[in-house]
Amino acid sequence: MHLFKISSSLVLVASLISITCAAQSIKIVGNVDMASTTIDRNIYGHFAEHLGRCIYGGIYVGEDNKKIPHTDGIRNDVVAALKELKVANLRWPGGCFADTYQWKNGIGPKESRPSMINSWWGGVTEDNSFGTHEFLDLCEKIGAEPYMAANVGSGTVQDMSDWITYVNHPGGSPMSELRKKNGREKPWNIKLWGVGNEAWGCGGNMTAEYYSNVYKQYATFMNDYGDSAKIFKIASGATDDSYDWTETLLKNIPGKQVHALALHHYSVISWTNKGPATNFDQGLYASTMFEASKMEEMVTRHSTIMDQYDPEKKIALFVDEWGGWYDVEKGTNPGFLYQQNTMRDAMIAGLTLNIFNNHAERVRGANLAQIVNVLQAVILTNEEKMILTPTYHVMKMYNVHQDAKLIPLQFQSPDYVFENKKMKAVSVSASKAASGDVNVSLTNIDYSKTHEVEIDLRGETLTKASAQILTSAKITDHNTFESPNMVKNVPYKDITFVNGKLKLKLPPFSVVVVNLKK
Ligand code: AHR
Repeated sequence: MHLFKISSSLVLVASLISITCAAQSIKIVGNVDMASTTIDRNIYGHFAEHLGRCIYGGIYVGEDNKKIPHTDGIRNDVVAALKELKVANLRWPGGCFADTYQWKNGIGPKESRPSMINSWWGGVTEDNSFGTHEFLDLCEKIGAEPYMAANVGSGTVQDMSDWITYVNHPGGSPMSELRKKNGREKPWNIKLWGVGNEAWGCGGNMTAEYYSNVYKQYATFMNDYGDSAKIFKIASGATDDSYDWTETLLKNIPGKQVHALALHHYSVISWTNKGPATNFDQGLYASTMFEASKMEEMVTRHSTIMDQYDPEKKIALFVDEWGGWYDVEKGTNPGFLYQQNTMRDAMIAGLTLNIFNNHAERVRGANLAQIVNVLQAVILTNEEKMILTPTYHVMKMYNVHQDAKLIPLQFQSPDYVFENKKMKAVSVSASKAASGDVNVSLTNIDYSKTHEVEIDLRGETLTKASAQILTSAKITDHNTFESPNMVKNVPYKDITFVNGKLKLKLPPFSVVVVNLKK
């Protein structure tokens, strides 16, 4: 009896403590007048590889298609959705495919374009009907800056240099004349160029030392054709926590010869057992979020190395592949990497974009893998049907940060703990747009706890607040072709804004973006 009394009062105390903890709000302070670093719009970049149904079927359906509305073979529905999204840049043609790509096979009359085997992705025949002109046409249609990945693994320096001349030289060279013959008079002036992809792996299995030399060789022949076509060279960077790769490249490549180092990090539980995209439990959810949360440490540590070699931060970090990676959907080609996209993916997106925004000084480019029908796609298609995924909605909610000034924030997030996994539950970033609007994006990855937040915005008088929220009943919720609007952002009324203090509740697995006006 006595024992029971002690334990029951302990339970009472414990629950009082937990009630007090749950009620305690997270205090965030932001100095709006101290916003200075620009959040580069290129953080909001996407990636389109010749992989599965990303290009063929997802973006390009062919000029003769009678079933799916298109313009010059490019789907009208996908173009409209991508325009709305404000895709800052689009990386193409890979990925691993880039280091097999012979660009000259993808220009000129379609009937005479040679085919190839897509050896990385399903061994399917690539007929090259979507090539340089079609890609650049897509970029013009959606208003995205093209980011081309040159073939370093199996292509020659001459091939790469010819490609640059073909797209950038104004006229009078054999390559510019060929472009004109193929119907494009003016050069495209492509600035963003990747020098290979994953040189440590599918791009040639090189060591960092070896790649540094190869990089310098290729970079030497990447000619600028006038001020409007100054090339921004992006070196194939590290994977995950391979800090040696970053260090070796910086040691060997003079700062003047490189404008950005890439970094790839996927939120994958295990490369041999990735787990299902939709039918997962809290254990798998926590593992994925744990992998996604590692982006903070990776970006910080790669940046620290970069700071040593480049204290003025002239060289950017481009996280040009990121996102969730799961088992493919049942019945689909394993080489096509087609997966559904749930609220878990929305959490990866909200968290990752906050990390990138907050590292805006060094992270000046990023590309979600991939744009349509592959990995953490923003759009899924099935013949003439198209749906927008939860990730699409998050990226659209966050696009208010593009080119805005980052507002430094101070706060401590509570942890989200599941079994042996512990990570920060709440991530936040804030920025001030050219219009004067302040936007705050918050993501709560906690599986079951609501977190109350109080944001004290100082240094400027803001008076009006409105918000959008993306959440759903279950973490596994997703949009389907039958139910395309199951997960969608909606206006969020449960906020108060009084004397510069913003108060709101963040439900479990939710993303909220608040807009504040003078
Ligand atoms: O995005 C899929 C693949 O992942 C890319 O082709 C490659 O770069 C990475 O390993």
